Amino acid sequence: MAEEKRKRILILYYSRTGSTERMARLIGEGVAEAGVADHDVRSVEGFDAGSLLDYDGIIMGSPTYYGTLAYEAKKVIDESVKYHGKLAGKAGSAFTSAANIGGGNETTVLSILSAWLIHGMIVQGNEKGDHYGPVSIGAPDERAAAQCREMGRRFAGLVNKL
Ligand SMILES: Cc1cc2nc3c(=O)[nH]c(=O)nc-3n(C[C@H](O)[C@H](O)[C@H](O)COP(=O)(O)O)c2cc1C
Repeated sequence: MAEEKRKRILILYYSRTGSTERMARLIGEGVAEAGVADHDVRSVEGFDAGSLLDYDGIIMGSPTYYGTLAYEAKKVIDESVKYHGKLAGKAGSAFTSAANIGGGNETTVLSILSAWLIHGMIVQGNEKGDHYGPVSIGAPDERAAAQCREMGRRFAGLVNKL
C-alpha cells in the first residue's frame, strides 16, 4: 500500500536583530511537537520564491516596519506572482515582532495574510490567543513564545488535514 506523503511546512522569516528569527524557531518547535509534518525554517535572504511550491503550508514572519512588513519579506511575496494560481489550497499563516504595543503589528500580520488570501490559500484564525498570528514586542517573552509554539502546533494540525 502506498504510504501517504508527509506534509511539509515552511517557516520563512526576515529578521535584522533576531527577534523575528527567534519566533520562527519557536513556531518550528510547535510544528515538531505536533509530530504530523516536517518543517524548514529559512530566511528570506537568498530565498527563491519558486521553492514555495515545495510546501503544503507557508508561514511568513517579518519585523513590523512602519506598520507593515519589511521590503525583504515583501520581495518574496511580489516574486511569488510568477506562481500565481499554484499556491491555491495551501495553508498560510503570519507573525511579527514590533517595538510597541499598537505599533502596527497586527496590520503587518494582516498584510501577509492578505497576500496568502489573494493566492487562494487557507488561513485559520485563533479564537483565544493572538487572533491573526503571533505578535511579540521585541524578543519573545514567555507569553509570545507560548503563542508561537501554539500556532506551530495548530498550523501543523490544519496542514495535516489538507
Ligand atoms: C525601519 C524600521 C521601522 C520600524 N517601524 C516600526 C513600527 O512601525 N512599529 C513598531 O512597533 N516598531 C517598528 N520598528 C521596530 C521593529 O519592528 C522591532 O525592533 C522588531 O522587534 C525587530 O525585529 P527583528 O529583531 O526580527 O529585526 C521599526 C524598526 C525599523 C528598523
